[in-house]
Amino acid sequence: MSGSRIVALGHYQPPKVLTNDDLAALVDTDDEWIRTRVGIRSRHIAEDESLVDLATEAAQKALANGGRTPAEIDLVVVATCTAIERSPNTAAAVAARLGIRSPAAYDINTVCSGFSYALATADHAIRAGSARRALVIGAERMSDTLDWTDRSTCVIFGDGAGAALVEAQEDGGEAGIGPVVWGSVPEKGDAVVITGWDPVISQQGQSVFRWATTQLAPLAREACERAGIDPAELKGFVPHQANLRIIDAIANKLGLTDAVVARDVVDSGNTSAASIPLAFSKLVERGELSPGDPVLLFGFGGGLAYAGQVVRCP
Ligand code: UT7
Repeated sequence: MSGSRIVALGHYQPPKVLTNDDLAALVDTDDEWIRTRVGIRSRHIAEDESLVDLATEAAQKALANGGRTPAEIDLVVVATCTAIERSPNTAAAVAARLGIRSPAAYDINTVCSGFSYALATADHAIRAGSARRALVIGAERMSDTLDWTDRSTCVIFGDGAGAALVEAQEDGGEAGIGPVVWGSVPEKGDAVVITGWDPVISQQGQSVFRWATTQLAPLAREACERAGIDPAELKGFVPHQANLRIIDAIANKLGLTDAVVARDVVDSGNTSAASIPLAFSKLVERGELSPGDPVLLFGFGGGLAYAGQVVRCP
């Protein structure tokens, strides 16, 4: 076996959309500040849909797009930092909804880098022979963590989910999921906090911004090197969708000129662990990436944790 590959993607966003003007009616902000500082135009906010609802919808779409049934899945991994229930975990609840029988099912919380961590653990499990076919989901209800009177955070985040169907690659071909580069800066952990029983998110925005724009490009480059690919050969770059200025700064440092760069933050805001699979799934659905294209995924944020890998587009 030569590893694993993503065979299909799916995503789901709740129908309610909040525009910048909607938020300007709630707090002292305006469309121009939000667009120029962060790049966001609108975000989706869950009303009645639970975190499990969002994750299940995305997973169902990935299964349908991959032509697989729940019975064929033996591993479910959910990356999230907004699970309210401790037991059953989100992965088990999604598996129960989908009718997946006896899967390994666990949640991962590395906040905004969660999807790349989850994808790496699924790849490792498949390589080790502990699983054959996995659903890897990033899902968040960031709105549960928002103080709607705090303009520094309530304009930034959104809700949604994205999912990848990951399978063992048995054709002896090139691995579809490259080696992960992951790590963290725990001494800066308090730069993004979501704590307590009724948690409210707060962040030292400028400190995280500086870290992201100065420290991450070399790590993203390392993920390319470990996959044996020059960044100039990338066809796609799907970083965590936190801020358009961060996305463009990293893309520029990597020297990406021809690659399609995900900019879903504009329409979805920052959806933490959901942002990468959500943005990736939309690019594939719109036909902006083609099967086999090398795409760099790179997550970063709370922790401060980061993780990235080059994958082949389904
Ligand atoms: O995904 C998790 C990881 N997190 C990140 O990657 C976030 C990284 N950081 C950022 O994206 C940016 O730092 C933010 C978008 C969070 C903030 O942008 P900024 O350019 O760093 O703004 P700032 O926090 O330095 O605030 C500048 C000014 C302040 O006013 P004064 O003190 O200069 O008068 C804020 O009070 O902007 C004010 N401000 C706002 N004004 C209008 C803060 N929020 C708003 C707002 N509308 N919504």
